Amino acid sequence: MTHPAFIPGRTAVITGAASGIGLAAARRFVAMGLNVVLADRSADGLRAAAASLGSNAIRTEVIDVAQPEELVRLQAAAVASFGEVNVLLNNAGVGDNPGKPWENPQGWRDLLGINLSGIVNGVQAFVPAMLAQAGPAVVVNTGSKQGITLPPGNSAYNVSKAGVKAFTELLAHELRQVAPGRVTAHLLVPGFTFTGLTGKPEKPVGAWTGDQVVDVLVEGVERGDFYLWCIDNETTRALDMKRVAWGAGDLIENRPALSRWHPDHAEAFAAFIKS
Ligand SMILES: NC(=O)c1ccc[n+]([C@@H]2O[C@H](COP(=O)([O-])OP(=O)(O)OC[C@H]3O[C@@H](n4cnc5c(N)ncnc54)[C@H](O)[C@@H]3O)[C@@H](O)[C@H]2O)c1
Repeated sequence: MTHPAFIPGRTAVITGAASGIGLAAARRFVAMGLNVVLADRSADGLRAAAASLGSNAIRTEVIDVAQPEELVRLQAAAVASFGEVNVLLNNAGVGDNPGKPWENPQGWRDLLGINLSGIVNGVQAFVPAMLAQAGPAVVVNTGSKQGITLPPGNSAYNVSKAGVKAFTELLAHELRQVAPGRVTAHLLVPGFTFTGLTGKPEKPVGAWTGDQVVDVLVEGVERGDFYLWCIDNETTRALDMKRVAWGAGDLIENRPALSRWHPDHAEAFAAFIKS
């Protein structure tokens, strides 16, 4: 059965809609008969995206999700064009690596301002009206496996996505108290996906496409799932779940932080994965 937020004539707002997963979602929502508001900081990207969608039921807005007042403006523009908003995909994000935890304070602030505060800004601008409206509403925030298993490399990115996970879990709980079943929140967890963020001209064999991620999004929301967990062509769900369980085990077993990458625990981790 189609989720009531996805029936034709409903309205979706997508941030980071000019490229990658956001653009794939826009394509899908247009095909499903939704009105779609595409928001992105790239004006050129939005123009190209709108041209590729070729629908009258779309509107574009140039915004920077790091600026709370721009999300407020986006919400007002969406309501002015289409009435209530039924789907909010807080998806804009960047993968820049500002450096180690003690380096580059401005780079850290910039990344957290987009990837984490950008999502908080979206929720704060849209959810009050979603709670007040009569129709259903679905909020999907784009996280990452890196925010759950924390592979060393880009600490700031991992911190931002860990924050998105915690924020979205708490949001889902709070919405369940005040608008059970009518306004819901979901965490989209893409794996390795070929997008602008991948920084490669050709799709790597191991990567999924944005369309595959959107399949998981739509089917998961329809089922009522909170975690919209994606795999890719190099990692199975079973392997993902073992990695998640090992990470949780660090605390329970009092192992060192990120013991998966600690030489003293390499053998035990390998045995756990095989078990
Ligand atoms: N590609 C992957 O492998 C992967 C994996 C896990 C999570 N993600 C997440 O998916 C989301 C979408 O990324 P993508 O992979 O489609 O990358 P992408 O680069 O193709 O798309 C991201 C879009 O966000 C826009 N954007 C960036 N900063 C913005 C800002 N401040 N305000 C408004 N728009 C802004 C960009 O202009 C771009 O159009 C991100 O949150 C990313 O962290 C991606």
